[in-house]
Amino acid sequence: MSTDVEKQNAARAAVDLIEDGMIVGLGSGSTSLIFVRMLGERVKNGLKIKGVPTSDETAMVAREVGIELISLDQEVHPDLDVDGADEVDSNLNMIKGGGGKLLREKIVAFAAKEVIIMVDSTKLVEKLGKFTVPVEIVPFSQPIVEIAIEDIGGKPVLRKAKDGSTYITDEKNHILDCDFGLIDDAESLARKLSNTPGVVEHGLFIDLADLVLVGENDGVRQII
Ligand code: A5P
Repeated sequence: MSTDVEKQNAARAAVDLIEDGMIVGLGSGSTSLIFVRMLGERVKNGLKIKGVPTSDETAMVAREVGIELISLDQEVHPDLDVDGADEVDSNLNMIKGGGGKLLREKIVAFAAKEVIIMVDSTKLVEKLGKFTVPVEIVPFSQPIVEIAIEDIGGKPVLRKAKDGSTYITDEKNHILDCDFGLIDDAESLARKLSNTPGVVEHGLFIDLADLVLVGENDGVRQII
């Protein structure tokens, strides 16, 4: 499929930016896993880096391909964070968390000196919001957060795992996937969500990306 080629092209361009000695935030999701596997090839060929994984799944794949891992308490400011996204607008604001890993992804992006996002071309949008906004919540708070989200115009749906049980995040929380329609003011919505007790984190990533690598069929386009 062409999006697969686009993801690979974006991931390859990101791998080319990694230099010896770097501490690299390793994102989550299918594009990030392509990146991690490609980075593993460079590590096998002698590249010396350490990775800060943003999910248990990414940590597992990184270990498999020989990338040494450290956590944020060992290195608080990764040189680069490389991750995917579900939607990116023209201001480089994003929706992330389709894969449920938004909490550690946002912490690592916030901590990193530079954030590079890899997407296929279908992820670029004029306005965020066609993709629902994942909101990670403390399980106990679900009814009260649902009401608060409805009050600000969202329709929350509790995320289910493939087997039909409630989806549990790496940090043992739940996720509400919230439909706000097309979002006119993502910054203001992000503030409202952050101010809601019970919300651990949300998938609106505002002002965090420094460079977006958009994979295309025959190459990569950079958006700064
Ligand atoms: C994981 O929680 C997400 O933030 C992913 O980065 C995002 O869903 C993009 O995933 P794909 O690379 O699989 O499209």
